[in-house]
Amino acid sequence: MAVADWDDARGRMLLDPTVVNLNTGSGGQLPRATFARVGDLRAHLARAPMDFLLHEVPPLLWKARERLAGFLGGDPHRLVLTTNVTEAVNLVASSLHLTAPGEILLSDHEYTPMRWCWERMARRQGLEPRTFRLPPRPVGPGEIVEAAVAAMGPRTRLLCFSHVTAATGMVLPAAELCREARRRGIVTVVDGAHAPALIDLDLASVPCDFYAGSGHKWLLAPTGVGFLHIGEGRQDSLEPLQVSWAYHPAAGSGAPDERDRFGSTPRLRRLECEGTRDLCPWLVLPEAIDFLAGFGHHRIAARRRELADRVRHRLTGLRGLEPATPEAPGLSAGMVAFRLPPGRDANEVRRGLRERHRIETSAVEGPDGPLLRISVNFYNTEAEIDRLADALEELMGQRAPSDHERNSEC
Ligand SMILES: Cc1ncc(COP(=O)(O)O)c(C=O)c1O
Repeated sequence: MAVADWDDARGRMLLDPTVVNLNTGSGGQLPRATFARVGDLRAHLARAPMDFLLHEVPPLLWKARERLAGFLGGDPHRLVLTTNVTEAVNLVASSLHLTAPGEILLSDHEYTPMRWCWERMARRQGLEPRTFRLPPRPVGPGEIVEAAVAAMGPRTRLLCFSHVTAATGMVLPAAELCREARRRGIVTVVDGAHAPALIDLDLASVPCDFYAGSGHKWLLAPTGVGFLHIGEGRQDSLEPLQVSWAYHPAAGSGAPDERDRFGSTPRLRRLECEGTRDLCPWLVLPEAIDFLAGFGHHRIAARRRELADRVRHRLTGLRGLEPATPEAPGLSAGMVAFRLPPGRDANEVRRGLRERHRIETSAVEGPDGPLLRISVNFYNTEAEIDRLADALEELMGQRAPSDHERNSEC
């Protein structure tokens, strides 16, 4: 696509013109069409709540589930819609029963609250949490598989890893890791928070037990969209986080995995139903998927690669910044994270970028300390990246505040 076309794509997004947003990894902006559609649905909910919930929602909900399942290469009958990844992972960790003694194995890149979630599960079930180190700069996926396999043992009951790590945007070979775990009788949970619409995801080819993902990042769906895809044969393992109407199937409801009159199946609804709430974000999944498909996923991926290369090129070595994201093809997407030189704090730099330059980035916890993470999407521009480089040059060219100055700011 020519630059003019990307300008047109940018024009179709809701963007604050006074802010440079280089943080889709935390949350994507909304396309105007998706925002308008969710607003229309909410207007109907506001005007006629019961008519909306009982009559309009069911067909739209099933359509949304089918479209999302189709987009992910999954099965709509095993796709639980959730508010976010946190809910999806907690759903598994709070109800799955593992055999103690034993251990829960995590990579050292896991998102902090998710690690806490597994640590709580381990404590409750008499298991030990254990972390294995991912190779920091692998040149191919084989090195990652080797590191994980070396950590799996007869005591390993469950393996959880991020498909794309939050810390560095490293893409892990999910299918191969799950295959190795399955061969050893280890339950697998993939945290795919960043994967949908960032990488070419095909759930049918990832033999995991549970796959959690989010819609509000790279898929550009509204806040409030997450999912849990349940692996074949695992449908009976989970209990809902909240007990609500669907806890006991209604009289006359069909087989557990048959589409019901609510836009779910009895089994999915048992896990999804949380009383009366706003389901509109789920219902606009078709619009979110269509919006991206209109540009072509491969074209968007190529544009992101182009912009990520520019970030790497402009920032590497600038005032001592050092990339922490692997460079090898296929091992990263959309995000480049940087280690800061000694004496520099990633959170302070992020704050300076935001407050003094109106540039949004993210400070993330890496396995060896904090990192500054830059996300790029098709609606970002070369000029924005250059503005980031100039801002970093200015911010990091200044003397770092002393501990005393830092403390007196708080
Ligand atoms: C790897 C990973 N897992 C889980 C989450 C939590 O996602 P959410 O806030 O949508 O629940 C995030 C959020 O950024 C993440 O990066």
